[in-house]
Amino acid sequence: MKIGILTSGGDCPGLNAVIRGAVLKGIKTDNLEFVGFRDGWRGVVDGDIIDLPRHAVRGISKQGGTILGTSRTNPFDGNGGPDAIKANLDRLGIDAMIAIGGEGTLAAAKRLTDAGLKIVGVPKTVDNDLDATDYTFGFDTAVQIATEAIDRLRTTGESHSRCMVAEVMGRHVGWIALHAGMASGAHAILIPEQQTSIEQICEWVTDARDRGRAPLVVVAEGFVPSHLEQAHSERGLDTFGRPRLGGIADQLAPEIEARTGIETRATILGHIQRGGVPSAFDRVLATRLGMAAVDSVIDGLWGTMVSLHGTEIAHVGFEAALGNLKRVPQHRYDEAAILFG
Ligand code: F6P
Repeated sequence: MKIGILTSGGDCPGLNAVIRGAVLKGIKTDNLEFVGFRDGWRGVVDGDIIDLPRHAVRGISKQGGTILGTSRTNPFDGNGGPDAIKANLDRLGIDAMIAIGGEGTLAAAKRLTDAGLKIVGVPKTVDNDLDATDYTFGFDTAVQIATEAIDRLRTTGESHSRCMVAEVMGRHVGWIALHAGMASGAHAILIPEQQTSIEQICEWVTDARDRGRAPLVVVAEGFVPSHLEQAHSERGLDTFGRPRLGGIADQLAPEIEARTGIETRATILGHIQRGGVPSAFDRVLATRLGMAAVDSVIDGLWGTMVSLHGTEIAHVGFEAALGNLKRVPQHRYDEAAILFG
């Protein structure tokens, strides 16, 4: 049996560990053969593949990015669609696919499975916002990178008695902000799920300064403070659902400075959070998910994805992950907010 693997959407640390886990398990236990599609669905539509023998995955679980490349190509656009893809797979002798990706990838995989293709999924997002899985690989690494960066902002902030505003990833949800903010002892954490006024933010900042601290604000990129909501809705969102007004940290910093009189600087961490070496936790999770995806193929569980339930790997239908984002629940935010200011 020959299996094609693809990585699609934004990259994240741990993708290579999934590929290695799947290839090694499939070769060792079931004598399967593997190929990789280049650049996500683009490689599926164009029939652009590379062989994945055992030596191709040697030592890759500690490498960031994806050895297969990725893209945001929609497999239904252009020359795509189920019939064209099926013809490609037949020509290349590929029996089934493992699609590693986020909500868009899984939605496309579901449509293709409904049309008769044999696909299993592996959920992926640094934002940790996919439903039906407790954690996604990449998230732990992103939190670690963000925490380390915020720790650094704290020492320079303290030296200059400045307020530091750190913007982290999270266009729809605030998981990275919540965890990195808690880990670094932020005086305020701002997330898209939680309406927060500029007055409240400035109160936390001033409280921290009054206790002799250099205020530290961690904000998720998708957060919009109440007083800017109107402006943001008028300008609309970009294709990824992010505000069009530029980095939120860049907007907040001058506003905080003007209202509190505390010199304030903004730092946008950006793609640094998605690059580089995955944490040990992410490597283990990703490896287990890759191995379990091979079990799904062997068992013919088409239209399902592997997911983490507690500490165990489960198999759930694609539809379980689609439609609902996993948002930060109110009690998790309230718990963190007790320590703000
Ligand atoms: O979905 C993950 C994510 O990192 C978001 O937090 C961020 O808004 C987006 O991807 C960035 O996408 P791109 O790499 O295409 O700019």
